Amino acid sequence: MSIGDNTTGPLLAGRGLVKAYGRTEALRGVSVELYAGEILAVTGASGSGKSTLAHCLSGIVRPDQGSVTYAGRRLEELPESRLSELRRTDFGVLFQFGQLVPELTALDNVALPLMLAGTDRRAARAAAGEWLERFGVRGQGELRPGEMSGGQAQRAALARALVTGPSVVFADEPTGALDSLAGEQVMSALVHTAREAGTAVLLITHDAQVAAYADREVRLRDGAVTSLEVTA
Ligand SMILES: Nc1ncnc2c1ncn2[C@@H]1O[C@H](COP(=O)(O)OP(=O)(O)O)[C@@H](O)[C@H]1O
Ligand SMILES: [Mg+2]
Repeated sequence: MSIGDNTTGPLLAGRGLVKAYGRTEALRGVSVELYAGEILAVTGASGSGKSTLAHCLSGIVRPDQGSVTYAGRRLEELPESRLSELRRTDFGVLFQFGQLVPELTALDNVALPLMLAGTDRRAARAAAGEWLERFGVRGQGELRPGEMSGGQAQRAALARALVTGPSVVFADEPTGALDSLAGEQVMSALVHTAREAGTAVLLITHDAQVAAYADREVRLRDGAVTSLEVTA
């Protein structure tokens, strides 16, 4: 993938990001770069602005100031329709609580992003089954999220985040609701797949053991970057 060539600069970059919610300054001028294929941990205490940063970088929230550049395109210049499409095709998201559609089976949840992108149901379900298999939850494919364990549901959510082959995965506290074994299973599945596919991962966590999976760490405090360091 030519997009992975570091000489072309970062795949995703936020520069001077400012975002306030009323009087709360969630981000106070944050700049961050994510390179293709890299796993970047964003750490910091609760309320330090980690999720807001991810929302700005993924185009869910428009910052008050600053810019976000993805693969050479400035997100703030894209109309909402183009931004939604970009999020569907190029970005994958994984949240603390999987946020699978509760009424759909695991298989249909994973097939959904492909169907939204135009793949027919049969092919989408076949691909979804392969992803579930890969993460050891194919046997749970016909269960609804509420019928699965937390770890199983999160592995299905991971499959849903990766099924379209995104260039960037935003993982916001992906192990925050799991016990340590289930957390390790999700993290190793995420990291292994990202390495294999050259997917960049923005990994939000306040758990040092989870951050240790990353290549680099950016630490936030009160909406500002306090340190940048190499963790691996
Ligand atoms: N939608 C929102 N409305 C109001 N305040 C918000 C909203 N989102 C975040 N905040 C506030 O912004 C600050 C940063 O929040 P957040 O980015 O969620 O931090 P973190 O993910 O590090 O816990 C917090 O003070 C939080 O209460
Ligand atoms: Mg958060």
